[in-house]
Amino acid sequence: MNDRYLMCAPDHFDVVYVINPWMAGNVAQCRSDVAVCQWRALATLISDVAHIERVKGQPGVPDMVFTANAGLVLGQSFVLSRFHHPERRGEEALFANWFADHGYHVIRMAPELPFEGAGDALLDRAENLLWMGHGHRTSERCASVLSSLLDIDVQPLKLVDERFYHLDTCFCPLEGGYLMYYPTAFDAASQARIAARVPAARRIAVSDADALDFACNAVNCGRHVFLNRASNELVQRLTEFGFLLRQTPLGEFMKAGGSAKCLTLKLNEPLRQPPVRVAA
Ligand code: ARG
Repeated sequence: MNDRYLMCAPDHFDVVYVINPWMAGNVAQCRSDVAVCQWRALATLISDVAHIERVKGQPGVPDMVFTANAGLVLGQSFVLSRFHHPERRGEEALFANWFADHGYHVIRMAPELPFEGAGDALLDRAENLLWMGHGHRTSERCASVLSSLLDIDVQPLKLVDERFYHLDTCFCPLEGGYLMYYPTAFDAASQARIAARVPAARRIAVSDADALDFACNAVNCGRHVFLNRASNELVQRLTEFGFLLRQTPLGEFMKAGGSAKCLTLKLNEPLRQPPVRVAA
């Protein structure tokens, strides 16, 4: 078990403002006892295959449970998020402190450049490549900044469906160079860029129903994939590709617009040149 994930227990989690369509109608509708059970079930499943480290939540920052948005980890560098919405900016100092205390080199984006961390910046699992979503939260201008900061190829992707406001709600690079994603969350040019970089045999396009169940918001650790819910068809496809799926309900967090992947941040992202993807 070498992989490490950062999680934040939902002691202060709630929906108290609306900054994405999932939160509309859900203000003060979260059942905190259910949220705690769901979070613990996810943490227990992941801890079978990886180490979990914790950052303490605080009153007044109810979305801090979504540690994917803390920033982007690559090697010992941590690019701190600069939240688009003022409602989440109180999390920035808390995450900066945690990463500095844990030996990371904390890099800050310019304050006028919104960047929402591993919600919008996802490392490919076959190439030395960073996929970056923009259009709702992260500024498109972050692509060139991240590329020079981290010396990595950055592929920007434009998000066009407001229900899928972060890249990790509709796009999940998987081990072996597979990609699970919801094509219509992207504009046509971005769909074409994805198709140009990931061979058809490795692309797993999910249905509307799976996308709305946040199937793409999955935690992939080796062959293991943890997610809220997947249709039988999706389970079958992922199983054929060698993945072991575990479904665990995360409905309380979906009221805030997040699910399994949002609740975690992978802490070990080695700086290396992974093997080049072999076309299947
Ligand atoms: N309520 C949070 C927001 O709108 C949810 C964040 C979910 N995180 C994610 N990585 N998709 O910012």
